[in-house]
Amino acid sequence: MYVFPKDFLWSASTAATQIEGGWNADGKGESIWDTLVHDGTGKIAHSENADTAIDFYHHWREDVALMKEIGLNAYRFSISWSRVLPEGTGPVNEAGLRFYRDLCDELLRNGIQPLVTLYHWDLPTALYRQGGWKNPAIADWFARYVEVVSRALGDRVKYWLTFNEPQMFCGLGLKLGVHAPFEHNTDADMMTVTKNILLAHGKAVQVLRKNCPGARVGLAPTGDCCLPRDDSPEEVERARQRSLSPYPNYLMSNTWWADPVFLGKYPAWARERFGEQLYPMTEEEWALVSQPLDFYAYNCYQGTVDFAADPAGYDDYGYQGCPKTANGWNITPQVLYYASKFWFQRYGLPILITENGCAQQDFVMLDGKVHDPQRVDFLHRYLRGLARAVDEGVPVLGYSYWSLFDNFEWAAGYDIRFGLIHVDYKTQQRTLKDSALWYRDVIAANGINL
Ligand code: BGC
Repeated sequence: MYVFPKDFLWSASTAATQIEGGWNADGKGESIWDTLVHDGTGKIAHSENADTAIDFYHHWREDVALMKEIGLNAYRFSISWSRVLPEGTGPVNEAGLRFYRDLCDELLRNGIQPLVTLYHWDLPTALYRQGGWKNPAIADWFARYVEVVSRALGDRVKYWLTFNEPQMFCGLGLKLGVHAPFEHNTDADMMTVTKNILLAHGKAVQVLRKNCPGARVGLAPTGDCCLPRDDSPEEVERARQRSLSPYPNYLMSNTWWADPVFLGKYPAWARERFGEQLYPMTEEEWALVSQPLDFYAYNCYQGTVDFAADPAGYDDYGYQGCPKTANGWNITPQVLYYASKFWFQRYGLPILITENGCAQQDFVMLDGKVHDPQRVDFLHRYLRGLARAVDEGVPVLGYSYWSLFDNFEWAAGYDIRFGLIHVDYKTQQRTLKDSALWYRDVIAANGINL
């Protein structure tokens, strides 16, 4: 029997670009995920785009009712910067702000805590045209945006996340060129980008502390958690060390981002590797970047399986016959256990799982239902992994499944589905999958039935 804390957050996550649609509705400005997809620069599967997505912008009331039906007591979503500030800076779009205010009110009326992400990858195009994350002015642009949002929502929102996965929007978007803005920047440029993101985070935290007293603030990083072959102390320690290393590359690693934010310093390996090329920081800048946060959020899908056939270990293939999701990610439920332990040990803060989920190719079946036993099993196993960490005394604040809905999966378009709720993209019909009903029962029992 597993015992989760009484006030455990049972949540599900989304992001603005992936669900909202209304890409130019009511004064919204464009983001890079609009402009660069429309102009064909982006390589999105089947030339799809996020123009309508699941049209949450027009369906949010009925969607909150579905959240209530599942029994969520929290819902993680992101704010679209260019819906609030169409040019990224400058005039505020009141209609955009009203949308998020109304959404928060509806959530609160239904007993659902809003968990707000301020930046989930949709940089306003107007700022991209001025250099985006490479322009040092962006820390102040971001702070102004956070000022506007936190003034409007500060009395409604208790949980704030500054950034979603700097690892991915830098690694995939600015280095490997597979996500918007589809760029391949040099390491020297990425030093500037890293510093600008860290300063933007620090300034945003300052603004949130000023405008939202009592708020709980963090960011939502990801990064590989490497798994031990067995539970022996030596193996666990080896896996932990590997998880703190620049694996699979420096930008996508945990410690490149987390050590500056949570420990106020460069990771040791970065000093050795980059020496003088590292982005320079003053004492004041370190203090700004590493202001105390309230939790260590983590987006977690698969652990790195190091008992691979590859003699060098640590590849993303796993091992022969390794169970996988529909997008080829390894199913490794113990990762929630190890990751929670490793990050708690290193950073000393309660853990909040802000994403974890399973891609499948679900469809509505002849009986009108969406049976997704793989996802139910995935959830069951992963939640047991998390429960094991809770049992061993790791403070875990909550768990947010990715994703509440099927949605626009970035460069992969709409083929694979992560949702607890199936969406027919032609009719916008929503159907609760079996996994949503299963999750509902787990939430009702506060996990005791896992
Ligand atoms: C992102 C989500 C994405 C999910 C599945 C995470 O990296 O935050 O936006 O849809 O993974 O790929």
